[in-house]
Amino acid sequence: MSGTVLELQGLRVLDAHGEPLVHGLDLNLRRGETLGFVGESGSGKSLTLRAILDILPDGLTREGRVTRSPRTAMIFQEPSLALNPTMRIGAFVARSWQLHHPGDSAAQSRTRALALLEQVGIARAAERMAAWPHELSGGMRQRVMIAATLATEPELLLCDEPTTALDVLVQAQILALLRGLVAERGLALVFVSHDLAVVSELCERILVLRDGEEVERGVLAEVLAAPRQEYTRELLTANLARRMTEPAGGRG
Ligand SMILES: Nc1ncnc2c1ncn2[C@@H]1O[C@H](COP(=O)(O)OP(=O)(O)OP(=O)(O)O)[C@@H](O)[C@H]1O
Ligand SMILES: [Mg+2]
Repeated sequence: MSGTVLELQGLRVLDAHGEPLVHGLDLNLRRGETLGFVGESGSGKSLTLRAILDILPDGLTREGRVTRSPRTAMIFQEPSLALNPTMRIGAFVARSWQLHHPGDSAAQSRTRALALLEQVGIARAAERMAAWPHELSGGMRQRVMIAATLATEPELLLCDEPTTALDVLVQAQILALLRGLVAERGLALVFVSHDLAVVSELCERILVLRDGEEVERGVLAEVLAAPRQEYTRELLTANLARRMTEPAGGRG
C-alpha cells in the first residue's frame, strides 16, 4: 500500500433508480504515476472523478471502496466556475494557501501566492495579484486555478478536460506546465479527456471507458500501437479524423 495515493475497488455510480452509470472500476495509483481516462462523451469520465472526490451530483450514489490521499485536488474544464469572481486573483490564491497552512500569516500567504503565480507562468505576477478573474484570458485563469490548487500541496491531481475550452496554442502551454509540475513534484495524475493526443502528452498509462465500463487499459504507447479492443480502434480513428479536419486554430 506504500506510495499508493488512490485505490478503487469496485467503484460504482448509480442513478436515482439504482441503474449503474459507472459499472465497477478497480484501480491502484501510486505517487508519480500518470493515468489518462479516455472515452466519448457520456462514458462516465467526469462521474468517476466526482465519485473519487465524493462530489457527485444530487441523486447519484457511490458504491464500492475509494481510498485516496487526503491531499487530492481537482482542476475543472472551466476555470471561471471554480474561481471566485468577486476576489482578486492574488487574494484567491493566498486564501487557498492560508486554508491549508493555518499557521501562516496573511502576509506570508500573499508571498506564497505570488511565488505560485510566478511558478505557473503568470507574467508580471506582482502587478497581476490585484487583477479580477474577468480581466484575464481563459488560459491565464486556468493558470491561476492551477496556482490555487498547488497551494494545497496535492499529491494526487485529478484533471477533468482542463484545456478543452482553450485554443490549441494555450492548450499546449498549459499541458507543458502540468507536465513540468507533475514531474517536479512527483504528483500522481488522473487526466480525463476525449482527446487521445492530449492524454498522450501527459500520461504513461490509459484506461478506456465506454458507457461507464472499462474497455481496456495499459501503457499508453502500447495501447495506441496495438489496441486490443475494437472500440479503442474506433476511438483512435475518430480522434485522428478530428485532428485532420479541425481548423489549425482548434477549438475555442
Ligand atoms: N446528475 C446526473 N443524473 C443522471 N445521470 C447523469 C448525471 N450526470 C451524468 N449523468 C449520466 O452519466 C453518464 C456519464 O456522464 P459523465 O458526465 O461522467 O460523462 P463524461 O464521460 O464526463 O462525458 P463528457 O466527455 O461529455 O464530459 C452520462 O450518460 C450522463 O448522462
Ligand atoms: Mg465530463
